[in-house]
Amino acid sequence: MALRTIRVIGDEVLLKPCKPVKEVTPRIKTLIEDMIETMYDADGVGLAAPQVGVLKKIVVIDVGEGPFVMINPRVLETSGEQTGTEGCLSVPGKCGMVTRPNYVKVLAYNEDMEPVEIEGTELKARAMLHEIDHLEGKLYVDRVEGELQDVKPSEEEV
Ligand code: NI
Repeated sequence: MALRTIRVIGDEVLLKPCKPVKEVTPRIKTLIEDMIETMYDADGVGLAAPQVGVLKKIVVIDVGEGPFVMINPRVLETSGEQTGTEGCLSVPGKCGMVTRPNYVKVLAYNEDMEPVEIEGTELKARAMLHEIDHLEGKLYVDRVEGELQDVKPSEEEV
């Protein structure tokens, strides 16, 4: 495993839509392992492949329950609403208020390319939706209500 360089805002790779994964090759397995290691190293709760310069639909998340992978994720259902502070490893040192659904159900594939339905609420839902946005070339800064703020040391970044 190896750490990958996290791309930051201004890098065009963050604004491009990703391609679906057809097969989990050894190269993709390595990418997933590296993404998890890179996420932990940066103290993030989520990371999407374009953040390490790879335009493929792969996301890793760990909101404190252990890591999971979402390959080719598709949102099946959302409900409710939450407004809270959000940050991003690709927008270092900043955060902002974002309103998102409080619940999400996603159909994705795991690292063995088996279909899985994953549900989340609160921080997990926020992280899942934030990372899925990355796969479409969208950054949370375009959803921020008001101004971006300087981040306080304890806040999670996704
Ligand atoms: Ni992000």
